[in-house]
Amino acid sequence: MVGAGGREHSLVQAIARSPQKPRILCAPGNAGIADEATCFPVAADDVAGLVALAKSEEVDFVIVGPEVPLSLGLSDQLITAGIPVFGPKADGAMLEASKIFTKQILLKYKIPTAAAGIFDAVDPALAYLQTRGAPIVIKADGLAAGKGVTVAQTLPEAEAAVRDMLGGKFGDSSIQILVEDCLVGEETSILVVVSGRDYVILPTSQDHKRIGDGDTGPNTGGMGTYSPAEVVTPEILAQIESQIVKPSVDAIADEGIEFCGTLFIGIMLTPEGPSVIEYNTRFGDPETQVVLPRLKTDLLALLWAAAQGKLSGINLEVSDDYTMCVVIAAQGYPESYGKGAVITIPALPENVSVIHAGTARNDAGEVVTNGGRVLGVTASGATLVEAAQAVYAGCEAIECETKYYRRDIGSRQLNRA
Ligand code: AMP
Ligand code: GLY
Repeated sequence: MVGAGGREHSLVQAIARSPQKPRILCAPGNAGIADEATCFPVAADDVAGLVALAKSEEVDFVIVGPEVPLSLGLSDQLITAGIPVFGPKADGAMLEASKIFTKQILLKYKIPTAAAGIFDAVDPALAYLQTRGAPIVIKADGLAAGKGVTVAQTLPEAEAAVRDMLGGKFGDSSIQILVEDCLVGEETSILVVVSGRDYVILPTSQDHKRIGDGDTGPNTGGMGTYSPAEVVTPEILAQIESQIVKPSVDAIADEGIEFCGTLFIGIMLTPEGPSVIEYNTRFGDPETQVVLPRLKTDLLALLWAAAQGKLSGINLEVSDDYTMCVVIAAQGYPESYGKGAVITIPALPENVSVIHAGTARNDAGEVVTNGGRVLGVTASGATLVEAAQAVYAGCEAIECETKYYRRDIGSRQLNRA
């Protein structure tokens, strides 16, 4: 397992449940992963180091968590070394690493998405803004750690974002930008395990991207999730599959990309129908934390089948339980925050698990904060209300001086019920 966050801890837990009883190694891991896997201090973006580690430990299979090593060609190099891998090669990772590349594919294959203009100079971008009006969305082309999107409510805000980005705010990632119409509706995350033209759609979920209750404040990597997202009714899911998932998987194959990995499709459910916001080429974080506990199918067998090109005919078994994950962040995230605050995790009920994200151990052996998103408290229940009660009791019981979490995860669905 490559990575160090909550997503990777959740993947490690799911793989540890496999009847195949694998020996799990993780690079670099975190304090929670270290309880379940052997961790090696090789950074997730150190491609040469990871390939050397995989060879020296004679690993049979590599699962890549984050997008950066994928876009740096980790999978290409592992395949060259004869090591099976789950996670796309660099050409497939472009679907996340370049929003312009993706927009061009979406438009070429007539997959529903917002209209957009592509710019590398300020004046034409500003002129285009005038023709579209606000609200409008400005996006850096390349990877920007989840910060490359501005949803501007006013034209001055949009103009400032255009100048900032084309002025080099995200370095090479914002040499080019997209100016995109604003989609209105509820968002959902559709995770699809893909192997060539074959695919398996994982259970639905909904993320909460803003830092504050009521979806206020700046965007984050994700502050909490729940599954299933019932806003995606069986009818809407069928529409998403026929209009978005299948055409996307086919388009990628038609473009000559041999894609093996997770295609994470961010979708806005607009009044005109589902529309693609973006592709990611990896599992979502914290979507993974709520999706995997609902799988009855052996995750390791599923990902291995994908890597072997044997995904067709696999039927997913999913539990009827509801799951919720609430992210405990360090006070100050997503701006500046401290590290090293001691975390005390009491014994919690069996249906609650504490996923580690930004944690480490200090010299005294205590678990301490070591990142912006620190923990993901996850619970399951027969109803979403039950899952929410268990998760929030867990959040309260965990002691940490700098803990911050949203109090309203799942409220859209809970308020609809
Ligand atoms: P991303 O960094 O691509 O995940 O985008 C961050 C967030 O920006 C998305 O989850 C949406 O909430 C929002 N967003 C991106 N594109 C649009 C759009 N065209 N219309 C409305 N919101 C958008
Ligand atoms: N939770 C959103 C993401 O993983 O990009």
